[in-house]
Amino acid sequence: MTDLRTDLGEAVAAAFAAEGVDASVARVTASDRPDLADFQSNGALAAAKALKANPRELAGRVAERLVADPRLSAVEVAGPGFINLKVSDEALASRAQGVADDAVLAGASSVVEPRKVVIDYAGPNVAKPMHVGHLRSSIIGESLKRLFRFRGDTVWGDAHFGDWGFQMGLLIVAVGDEGKADAFLADGEGPFPDHSPVTLDDLERLYPLAAGKAKEDAAYRDRARKATAELQSGRLGYRALWRHFVAVSRTALEREFGALDVTFDLWNGESDADPRMAGMIADLTAKGLLVEDDGAQVVHVARPGETRKKKLPDGSVIEAPSPPPLLVVSSEGSAMYGTTDLATIVDRRETLNPDLILYVVDERQAEHFEQVYRAAYLAGYAKPGELEHLGFGTMNGTDGKPFKTRAGGVLKLHDLITQATDKARDRLKEAELGADLSQDEFEDIAHKVAIAALKFADLSNSRTTSYVFDLDRFMSFEGKTGPYLLYQTVRIKSLLRKAEAQGVLSGPIFVKEPAERDLVLTLDAFDQAVSDAYGKRAPHLIAEHAYRLAQAFSKFYAACPVLAASEPETVGSRLALSAAALMQLETALRLLGIDTPERM
Ligand code: ARG
Repeated sequence: MTDLRTDLGEAVAAAFAAEGVDASVARVTASDRPDLADFQSNGALAAAKALKANPRELAGRVAERLVADPRLSAVEVAGPGFINLKVSDEALASRAQGVADDAVLAGASSVVEPRKVVIDYAGPNVAKPMHVGHLRSSIIGESLKRLFRFRGDTVWGDAHFGDWGFQMGLLIVAVGDEGKADAFLADGEGPFPDHSPVTLDDLERLYPLAAGKAKEDAAYRDRARKATAELQSGRLGYRALWRHFVAVSRTALEREFGALDVTFDLWNGESDADPRMAGMIADLTAKGLLVEDDGAQVVHVARPGETRKKKLPDGSVIEAPSPPPLLVVSSEGSAMYGTTDLATIVDRRETLNPDLILYVVDERQAEHFEQVYRAAYLAGYAKPGELEHLGFGTMNGTDGKPFKTRAGGVLKLHDLITQATDKARDRLKEAELGADLSQDEFEDIAHKVAIAALKFADLSNSRTTSYVFDLDRFMSFEGKTGPYLLYQTVRIKSLLRKAEAQGVLSGPIFVKEPAERDLVLTLDAFDQAVSDAYGKRAPHLIAEHAYRLAQAFSKFYAACPVLAASEPETVGSRLALSAAALMQLETALRLLGIDTPERM
């Protein structure tokens, strides 16, 4: 379904064309002066310049051609040659009816050519608790997955589980040293125990210890490197042990993602690219891309002349290639982070053949992806434009640095959700909400409020900016917050329940009052918000729209009595408008990954 802005844009373009002006100048936008007009076109200014004509005169002639359009109640030329358009009540009513009747897209439109898209997000790791960086990736990635699917693309969300690098060697050594895994360390054919020798607690306790030790102790580090290489080259006991690490971690992670309402179509690990590795390395070698560098094998990805200054250990400064070469095989013979990413591209090409792969990963990994993408383009595993890194900023503490707990540690996702749910319970009680509900329903609402608060706080910022973690603000029922939006949906739901109880039905929509007009114009703007969010991979534009819509509804509800309106037709129309607003608001929130309760 097209929105009014697009429809009117076509009419204005035709009017410009009839005046002999290139129609591409005739863009229609929401009015800068909503008190004077609904939409405006500034096309006459640009066109007059090109034609060396008087802009006001040209605008006047174009306006003349538009006055008869039944969708417009007023067409006026303002200032140096702006064309101001006011939409007729009838046109607004018909658009509102269109939105109300569109249970699938709530007034938005689909893409013309659907694509196959992989979204690589969350990126949790074996044995490492998720932190707020993974939280941002999960929240943004989940929203983009929903948005792309909503517009008609075929989408796979892939968790890209970190289960393959040096960390795995570290864990094998650490678990082995505790004497827990003797049965797996024998260099034989097995069989190996099918019961995990470690719990999640063991893994989460051992991993940081081992990582710390490897930093200080070169011999320990070497053992872990060796274990990594042996695991990767297929030592059976190590593989069996590693499978337990993966399974134990994954079970715990899935529980956390479940709490966040984040789901994946694929739970592929970095290790799943392993079978592609040997062939890829042979292919890179055959193409002359893989070269020896100090015992390791790398792909040079910088073009001639792309350099930056680099300080060497001896203090001298050289011009080094930028981005640096991609390390494919380490001097110990191990696959690196970039190797698995490159082989994963090969794997996705073979299995899914996507048109686009989006990587939702911390901005600080930008150079890594630049290296991987360039290598993939050089090797022909993807075409330029098919791989996109969607970086994001950090969630900071009030000190402006990446958020740490009071104890100075990295905040674990699990603790964050618990903390947010505790706060949600307090807030609901303070606001005397949910007091008459069962314990179970109250808990469900507290959880929804907590998730809405965390997700909306994240998604209302543009992806690339960093923001400050402030649970008190996120959790407020006032202002631009998740809880405010949930509260607005619940208000509409309760109105609709009341209407139903009274046997009052929705009727055809008509539009008269300014607050009704504003609400419909806001409903109309959803399509643009959705397509801009899609094009710019920017969920905050949807968050922005949801907030505007909630406010427009709130104003409408204050100014226009619904069930208490005097005419039955007005009751029916306003009820239908309320239901349309609810449907679009819930659709927008669902695109943000936010689920709404029935009551509060
Ligand atoms: N596991 C990585 C980390 O925790 C993130 C993975 C991102 N995705 C990717 N394809 N490299 O930093």
